[in-house]
Amino acid sequence: MRKANVNGVVFIVGIIIFVFVVSLVVSTFFQPKRAEGIPPSPHATEGYLESECSSCHLRGIRQAPIFDHPERENCLTCH
Ligand code: HEC
Ligand code: HEC
Repeated sequence: MRKANVNGVVFIVGIIIFVFVVSLVVSTFFQPKRAEGIPPSPHATEGYLESECSSCHLRGIRQAPIFDHPERENCLTCH
């Protein structure tokens, strides 16, 4: 007759709870922050295609600040 291994069950359940609590704490206190130093776009971005961003910001149309990374295409991932 084998006895149920109560200590083993408690041990494994303990590990599961421990991992759960640790991951909860880590995700609460270490939320990914927005990268520093990237100016958010001050104007509405939804109305523009990303190809239109460059047309103002490469030529300074309406005093748009000229930027130095036109080779990046996915403007909205950062701005
Ligand atoms: C119609 C022209 C125009 C278009 C199109 C345009 N912008 Fe702008 N943008 C401006 C002007 C003008 C300013 C500066 C005035 C202001 O602060 O609103 C500016 C400011 C910015 C700034 C702030 C720069 C700084 O130094 O703070 C960012 C970032 C920016 N735009 C990103 C974008 C992105 C991304 C897009 C495409 C989704 C876009 N812009 C499309 C005219 C434009
Ligand atoms: C990988 C992230 C990233 C992407 C993608 C990106 N930018 Fe930027 N952008 C930055 C950072 C960082 C800065 C601030 C430092 C600098 O001026 O280079 C910046 C600054 C700017 C500024 C302000 C420049 C100034 O001198 O005030 C404008 C305007 C701008 N970006 C427009 C755009 C447009 C339009 C696109 C798409 C063609 C774009 N960005 C794509 C990261 C990005």
